[in-house]
Formats: sequence, structure tokens, C-alpha cells
Amino acid sequence: MEKSWWKEAVVYQVYPRSFMDSDGDGIGDLNGILQKLDYLQELGVNVIWLSPVYQSPNDDNGYDISDYQSIMTEFGTLADFELLLRAVHERGMKIMMDLVVNHTSDEHSWFKESRSSKDDPKRDYYIWKPGNQGKEPNNWESVFKGSAWEYDEGTSEYYLHLFSKKQPDLNWENRKLREEIYSMMTWWLEKGVDGFRMDVINFISKDQSYSDGHIYHQKQYGDGSPYFMNGPRIHEFLQEINQQVLSRYDVMTVGEMPGVSTEEAQLYTGRNRDELHMVFQFEHMDLGGGPEGKWSDADWKLSDLKRILSKWQTGLEGNGWNSLYWNNHDQPRVVSRYGNDGRYRIESAKMLAACLHMLQGTPYIYQGEELGMTNVTFASIDEYRDIETLNSYDELVHFNGWSKERTMSAIHARSRDNARTPMQWNDSRNAGFTKGSPWIKVNPNFREIHAEKAYNDPDSIFHFYKRLISLRKEYEIIVYGRYELLLPDDERIFAYTRAFKKEKLLVLCNFKEEHAPFSLPSELLSHTATKLIGNYGQEGTGIALEPLCPYECRVYLLK
Ligand code: NOJ
Repeated sequence: MEKSWWKEAVVYQVYPRSFMDSDGDGIGDLNGILQKLDYLQELGVNVIWLSPVYQSPNDDNGYDISDYQSIMTEFGTLADFELLLRAVHERGMKIMMDLVVNHTSDEHSWFKESRSSKDDPKRDYYIWKPGNQGKEPNNWESVFKGSAWEYDEGTSEYYLHLFSKKQPDLNWENRKLREEIYSMMTWWLEKGVDGFRMDVINFISKDQSYSDGHIYHQKQYGDGSPYFMNGPRIHEFLQEINQQVLSRYDVMTVGEMPGVSTEEAQLYTGRNRDELHMVFQFEHMDLGGGPEGKWSDADWKLSDLKRILSKWQTGLEGNGWNSLYWNNHDQPRVVSRYGNDGRYRIESAKMLAACLHMLQGTPYIYQGEELGMTNVTFASIDEYRDIETLNSYDELVHFNGWSKERTMSAIHARSRDNARTPMQWNDSRNAGFTKGSPWIKVNPNFREIHAEKAYNDPDSIFHFYKRLISLRKEYEIIVYGRYELLLPDDERIFAYTRAFKKEKLLVLCNFKEEHAPFSLPSELLSHTATKLIGNYGQEGTGIALEPLCPYECRVYLLK
């Protein structure tokens, strides 16, 4: 397998709005990130992925960009950004920017011009259609609920918005628009940024038929995804981006790609494809979804999670590359979801970390994950800020007829705001995040869970992550080893091996509160084993064969 720095890197995602506020306005900012670089350096991460920091009216917290070449007023200035970039580079780390080019804000000057008249030269930068017998051009649903089309009085046409109506979709069929995007990307790369995480990049090529989507059970709108996910010209566009921009720089590129298969991922990231370095896919995050999508609470088993993760491990082996993550700004906290955020919070957070970091792929840590931050249960919908949560609340209560209690409990489990409560730095007011009044409330458990405490405790989740990161730097097998699943049907234990040259890595993880006995293939027992890391006790030699304790993990190097 070809070696690359971005395969060997560990990424840390910063959601700037919730990371650290330096000026007391209650909103995190660039100088706040600057203040915390030593912390990130201590953790040992290589790349910082910044969720969008561009000018934005914040309908979707920065994923609605009104100016790609200036910094959001609340976050600081371009000079602050340059200072941050320099400071990150001085510490031997890199910055990966979020690139949101499926859509802009409706307050972007391109859209203002585009909507001004049907003859405007930028009209075609967006997707405008006449109505269909007085209704929307087709039945597509927006990801944030309601129709994906908005009627514009001024020119009597509809524009497409796969997300909020303040996020009109760009028309990638337009060459001039594509060129504007390429020159904007080049501008950032010339400033020295080290890569792009590309937001829903597999949505940019739309099937030009704009056909109606299938209407699933009890839904009001149709599912347009077959017509915009992995669309007809997607590979052509990505190859063009690569040729015109990316190939001229040694940078890291990640495609956020809902609904991508392993076969498609090979086309996006495979050898000699000249598209992207890695995908960021959602299959292991979509477990538990049912007829109401992520708000449903369908049953799932550990063997389902293992099957999905294993499919991505073997499906890209030798051709393509995947991102490894349990959390990001769109997902609930993993310790509350796949772990145990009560009695076994610390054990399960460490087990989940080891389970993920020993897989093949580039690991991502989302801010606060290294502290075992948990979901939040705000009592009232008024305390939530996320547009998807607020729109879904309305739809579930008013259209689906769910009770408020049932809806709130779904929100407690799945809202994106679970990830967006402020970073918990210490046990002072507002968890040390701000001296003002935070834009979203701090999780009340901050007096127990915070960075200062974790930093000072050598046995904390933070130090466990630090050790995982340093193991990855020490042992090539963790980056490049070939994956094999063990005990596929075991509903308590996720066990696998990695193989590289003459060595093997053995990873045993108990996902349950009960003790979990196991037996291993005798071949594995014939090696000399060294325990590299575990969450119940020290490193040592020999594979321990007694049952795994609740949420225990053991990682061995076999020679
Ligand atoms: C994916 C981003 O991760 C999410 O936060 C955002 O709302 C949508 N794309 C739209 O940009």
C-alpha cells in the first residue's frame, strides 16, 4: 500500500462557535482557538479541521456562506486567521478548511445578483425552475424538512435548496461558477492552508431530469437523493477540481459523502483516480434510523455495527481510504450513543476510542470527545439552536402527530446540538468557555467533566487518547495493517486483527456492561503478545484469556 502523510495523520475537528470564546460575546472565535493550541499539541493531533469560519448569517452555523474570502465577524478577522495558521504551523500541525460549495447563503452576492432578474449573468449560478402547475418544480424534500424549493416573488421562479431555504444550491453545470470556486480555493491554498474537508461534495452534480422522488411511508415529500447523490457528472467535477487546483499542492482532501457505497468510494479515492484522498461516510452513524429517519429509535445489534465497519475496512483495502470517526458536529456524543454515559462513562469512552483508532483509516477526534463529553438533555425546545432540530420538532409534533415528550426524547438522543454545547475547559462559570453568556447552554455536567481535570489525571480519557495517537506514530501496523474481523456473531465483543509484514495486532472490545467471555483461534495464541493499551490495568506480556470486564478493551501486538 502506498504511504502518505494524510494516512498517518490524526485529525481534530474544531467547531469554532463552541470551542473557546476569547472576547466575551458568548461565541467561540479564532483567538480562542489560538489560546488552546498548546492543548491540541499536547494531545498530539496533526491536523485541525475547522468547521466553516467564513462570513455567514448563521442560519446553519456557518454552513451558509455569504463570503468565501472573509472571516465571520464573530470569529475575528483575516489577520486573526493568518496568525492562527502561522501558530499552527509553528507547532508542526496543519489546518484543513471546511469547503462548502454545494450551496451558499442566500445573502451571498452571487445569489443576490442571481435572484435580481432572469437575465442576470449570474442567474445560472443557481438552480432556478418554473413552477409545475402552480406548485414546486418537483416533490423533493429538503434535508432540513419541507420542500427543497422556494418560490421567489421577484422573478416568479423557484430555486433549489437541499438544506435550508437560506442555503440555495449552486449550479455546477455552469462553467463560470466552477471557475470562481477554483480560484477561491486557490486563494486559500496560496495563504497556506493544508487541505479541505468538502461538505456534501457528492451532492454537487444533479441529474438534469429533476424527476420526482419516491414518497416513502407517511411522508409529505419525495426522496430526491437518487437524483443528486453521486450524480452523473460528479467524477468529472472532482477530477476537474483536482486538475485545476488540488494537484498543485500537497494537501489533504476529504469528501463528506452521505449515501456513498464502498464501490463508489473506490472511485472517489482509489488509485489513479485523481479525485479525493478519503471519504467521510455515514453508514455506521445511520444505525437505529427507521421510518422517521434519524429520529426513529429502531433496534440494532452490535453485529450490525461490526458488519458495517468491517465492510468499510475490507472494501477499501489496497484501493481507497476512509475516515474513522464516532463524533462530529452533526452527531450525538458517542459515549451516550454506543457507550454508557453513566457508571461506565470513562471505561466506555476509552474502549470506543481504542476500537476506532486501531482500525484502518484516518482517525478524527471531535472536540470534547477526548474528555468523554456526553449528550445534553435540555428540558425545552427553546433551549435548542440547531435549525434541523427546530424544523424537525415542528414536523414531528405538527405533521407526524408525535407527543412533545416523545419528540423531546428523540431530540435528546439525536439532536446535533448534543455535539455543539460549549467545550468544557474547567469547572468555573460556563465551563471556562466564555466570560459572557454562551450562545447555547453549557452541559450541566461540566463540573465533573472538563479538560483541566482530565489533563491533570494520568488515567483520564484525554491521556488515553494521547497514548492512542502516539501508538499510531510508533507502529506502522496501526496505519497500514490489513483488517480481519473475529467473532462476527458475538453480540458483546468487537474483536479484530490487523496484519502487517510479520506482525499482528489483536483488538478486543467489550461493548456491554456484562463480563464477556471469549475464545480465540489457536493460531493467535501461538505468538508472543505484548499488551499495547487497555482500559483496565497496565501493559504487559501474554494474552489474558479471562472474560472482558464491562466495556473493557485490550490491544496486543503479536510477533
Ligand atoms: C453537512 C454539514 O456537516 C452540516 O452541518 C450542514 O448542515 C450540511 N452539510 C449543510 O451544509
